[in-house]
Amino acid sequence: MAGMRELLPTPRSDVDVHESYAAGWVDRGGFRLNMIASVDGAASANGFSRGLQTPGDNRIFAALRDLADVVLAGSGTIQAERYGPANLDDARLARREAYGFGPALPVGVISRSLRLDLSARLFQDPERRPFVITCGDTVPDELAAVAEVLVCGETDIDYGLVRGELAARGLTRVLCEGGPTILGSMLRAGAVDELCLSVSPFVMGPGAPRIVDGRPWPDGPATMRLGTVLEEEGALFLRYHRFG
Ligand SMILES: NC(=O)c1ccc[n+]([C@@H]2O[C@H](COP(=O)([O-])OP(=O)(O)OC[C@H]3O[C@@H](n4cnc5c(N)ncnc54)[C@H](OP(=O)(O)O)[C@@H]3O)[C@@H](O)[C@H]2O)c1
Repeated sequence: MAGMRELLPTPRSDVDVHESYAAGWVDRGGFRLNMIASVDGAASANGFSRGLQTPGDNRIFAALRDLADVVLAGSGTIQAERYGPANLDDARLARREAYGFGPALPVGVISRSLRLDLSARLFQDPERRPFVITCGDTVPDELAAVAEVLVCGETDIDYGLVRGELAARGLTRVLCEGGPTILGSMLRAGAVDELCLSVSPFVMGPGAPRIVDGRPWPDGPATMRLGTVLEEEGALFLRYHRFG
């Protein structure tokens, strides 16, 4: 059995966030989840994850996007956080190029019901149509007109099919920005290769949701392997990997 290790204090400062999060990812790819929680486990403040963010988290959030072929989120998050197409300035495009990523960063919405607000910003740019990832057998024409719909499963999302559909389009480094219901279903399905968890130095108090929601897991808890730990002004940035 492995013994206790002290990770701190063994400081190495001036960490290059892109370099840190590119290692073991750019060549391998997979499904990477990015989430944030407070010290007492809250996943949002008044319905938004914004209230938990720190400057370090914002930099990592951007870096993870810079190191992704596609960014996904559940319809709850897309709606709550008012997602639009990803905008990348010249510096970020140059950074993407340096790590071998193309200029486009498409956004994908995961939805079973397809009750999506098609008047939202995300669906307004014909040059940057989002993916909609769903299951079932009916795709409304008005949705197909503004999005590329990927049907991945019959009654539930099959994340293996999602992986395959995206890979067929050259999108193998998949960043998913939550939310809790999607993280719960992806962990339940064993589909999470990497969980990037920011722990913000705030205590939010009772009543807040956790970073995982949804149906109970029949197989009990899962274990992940800790990769790296970064720290900035009391906020921790943890990188966990799937075992095996
Ligand atoms: N702390 C964080 O890091 C973090 C990150 C993201 C979001 N949030 C917060 O979380 C809240 C939203 O949470 P949420 O759990 O409602 O949002 P969510 O996980 O983004 O989206 C839930 C929706 O995803 C779809 N969905 C989930 N599982 C599915 C499955 N197996 N198959 C097909 N579709 C599936 C369903 O959409 P349909 O209803 O359309 O079928 C469901 O209503 C917001 O307050 C947001 O700010 C926090």
